[in-house]
Amino acid sequence: MKTLLDALHTTDSPSVPQLVRLLAARNDDGNMLRDAAIACMTRHVGDTVFLRGLVEVSNRCVQNCHYCGIRADAPVSRYRVTEDELMQAAHQCNRLGYGSMVLQSGEMPSDGYVDFICRAVEKIKKSTASDILPSGLGITLSLGVLSQPQYQRLFDAGAHRYLLRIETSDARLFASLHPKAQSLSARLEALERLQSVGFQTGTGVMTGLPGQTLEMLANDILTFRKLNIDMVGMGPFLPSDNTPMANARVLPAMERFQLGLNMIAVTRLVCRDINIASTTALEALHPQGRLLGLQWGANVAMPSFTPEKKRIFYTLYNDKPMSATVDGVVAAIETIGRKVGLNAYGDPRHFFSRLNGTGGEKWGTE
Ligand code: 5AD
Repeated sequence: MKTLLDALHTTDSPSVPQLVRLLAARNDDGNMLRDAAIACMTRHVGDTVFLRGLVEVSNRCVQNCHYCGIRADAPVSRYRVTEDELMQAAHQCNRLGYGSMVLQSGEMPSDGYVDFICRAVEKIKKSTASDILPSGLGITLSLGVLSQPQYQRLFDAGAHRYLLRIETSDARLFASLHPKAQSLSARLEALERLQSVGFQTGTGVMTGLPGQTLEMLANDILTFRKLNIDMVGMGPFLPSDNTPMANARVLPAMERFQLGLNMIAVTRLVCRDINIASTTALEALHPQGRLLGLQWGANVAMPSFTPEKKRIFYTLYNDKPMSATVDGVVAAIETIGRKVGLNAYGDPRHFFSRLNGTGGEKWGTE
């Protein structure tokens, strides 16, 4: 394990078998992997944890992804937060010193919905501007696949980051998870559009999906690097009631959880100077899930600022933790010996190395 971890420091092109061995590491080997990931994180992005206030803006969705609890056909009450609720959340984030917000929702590719988000973004930027953050809170969007003009309008309104998960880089596995109308290539093209518009661009996958192998996960990580992605958010697959995958056969919870942690660590070792979020899905499998994600190489946390009455309907999967709120987040992060980056955007370093063509401290441009 030590030789393998040392080799990873010096190679610019790790192989799938190398990454598979790391993803399979458990016990002592697992601890060595974790320590290497934290050393890599500290060296390339520091040990500060950046906070983003997450608002789940709407659970309306036109897509029917087989795994997702807010798919169009799921029998769940639909909501959209009001502009007032969004502004209240923004002011609360600002008061608490959060440098950024994430606005996430189901996919609604209508111009009317994009207008609503653009107006909200403009208003948030303007009303949270201060001496410390002259152009207001940083804003990340996560609204699914939209057209180039729609992405451009959202960027022009002031959003500067966008998250769009590919779910898996394996086209056949992707096809087994989605209706025919969706394809992996459409997600990849959308990521390209986002990068060309100028967004700091994030993606991610689910781990522990039925039919997913460690080789596929290793290829997911190599895909993040190849796409020159700036941010990654990943989490274990959790079966969701009222979906075609409600009774899917999955690995036992603790194995899925550990695989989620290993994915974070190996992604850190391969992609180095990106931001990695520790996600809610980890907390659904373990009460300390999100802190453990940070201890395996993640450097971003996204506590929920969604109004509680609406949050209960953002049911991506069963047993989604509702407690992952704002109270005590800073203190909890400090108990694991990490600093919290308040009043700062906490942009991914990789974005800047990508822009000036170095493609990361170590990776040459491909
Ligand atoms: N289990 C885990 N993650 C899920 N997501 C959606 N449904 C599930 C589920 N059942 C994730 C997907 C999606 C993101 C918004 O939530 O990766 O991109």
